[in-house]
Amino acid sequence: MKKVVLAYSGGLDTSCCVKWLQDKGFEVVCFSANLGSEFSPAEIKRKAKASGIKKIYVQDLQQEFAEDYILPALKANAVYEAKYVLSTALGRPLIAKYLVDIAHKENAEYVAHGCTGKGNDQVRIDTTVKILDPKLKIIAPLREWELTSRESEIAYAKKNKIEISTTKEKIYSIDQNIWGISIEGGMMEDLANAPDEKAYVLTKGIDKTPSKPDYVEIEFEKGIPIKLNNKKMSFLSMIEALNKIAGKHGIGRTDLVEDRTVGIKSREIYEAPAAWVLLQAHRELESAVLDKDTLHFKEIVGLRYSQLAYQGLWFSRLRKSLEAFVDMTQEKVSGSVKLKLYKANIVVAQRKSKHSLYRKELATYGEEDQFNREDAKGFIEIFSLPYRER
Ligand code: ARG
Repeated sequence: MKKVVLAYSGGLDTSCCVKWLQDKGFEVVCFSANLGSEFSPAEIKRKAKASGIKKIYVQDLQQEFAEDYILPALKANAVYEAKYVLSTALGRPLIAKYLVDIAHKENAEYVAHGCTGKGNDQVRIDTTVKILDPKLKIIAPLREWELTSRESEIAYAKKNKIEISTTKEKIYSIDQNIWGISIEGGMMEDLANAPDEKAYVLTKGIDKTPSKPDYVEIEFEKGIPIKLNNKKMSFLSMIEALNKIAGKHGIGRTDLVEDRTVGIKSREIYEAPAAWVLLQAHRELESAVLDKDTLHFKEIVGLRYSQLAYQGLWFSRLRKSLEAFVDMTQEKVSGSVKLKLYKANIVVAQRKSKHSLYRKELATYGEEDQFNREDAKGFIEIFSLPYRER
């Protein structure tokens, strides 16, 4: 019997995938990963069993996701089209890597997933699988089957006695992990509509946020966040804690009309409270400790890095090379940044680093000024020379 390893969530799409693959004569092995959504291993196992699945791998990958995928992206300040912290995008290569590993362990020739034929996720998962093992065959039932609408899938599920759960997911398509939530579909497909307040999961609307601010102090060591308010903690725990605090203050909502890899423009609403706090803290520290050239070049690198991550080219030579560059720049990115969280705003309260290149005696307009204004005149003469010649 042909064997396939399916990335399985227990939702409508992948539940229909199980049945469809079985009907095509496959033995289906399932793989479910927890990257930080509402996730119940027992529930997933129960559903899989009810679908006639004999073997399922359920793995909590939050730690690995935080350390090996989110952290490098944070160091690079990777943000796509200015508004998307790449939460969904960063999770896909990790899932694909496990699909490949499990396929090898199971001696399966095939892997499968429930991504649609219009989105980025199929590109990310397929490309990662092809990079890691070009011989594996990939099946994406949603690209092939005749069930082209949600309604037809529900009808198929009913006909085949597949359990359908009723959640918010029915109105909107939601993807959640510890780095953020992506929400699309429904009334938000119309650009004339403001986001639906009810769609948000992690953040409060400004009118519901506290009237007193919270302060968070984040300490970094070589670009890695190590302490929150003076308490040492893992990167994963820090993200969890910041999602709560910043979410309460309505921080981290964005609304983006974005360019998908397949060429379509789509509209997505994002919530990423911890991500925006950490990204800002990291940038604030870099602004003090990196020299001008490194900082400016790193911005270009970050932009390219975000595009590679978005397109699912995580395991590409270029992305890894950029990571090596970024790591080199982080050598002196140690110190702490205190931020005030208030009414959906992040305000810098303090920056501290023993590697800071900021010199008050050079910057000041006060008495202690040590900058030589005389030098400026000559510098400007030479600096402007090519423009004057033109
Ligand atoms: N647009 C985002 C991306 O391509 C999220 C995709 C999944 N979104 C969703 N609502 N299910 O990374």
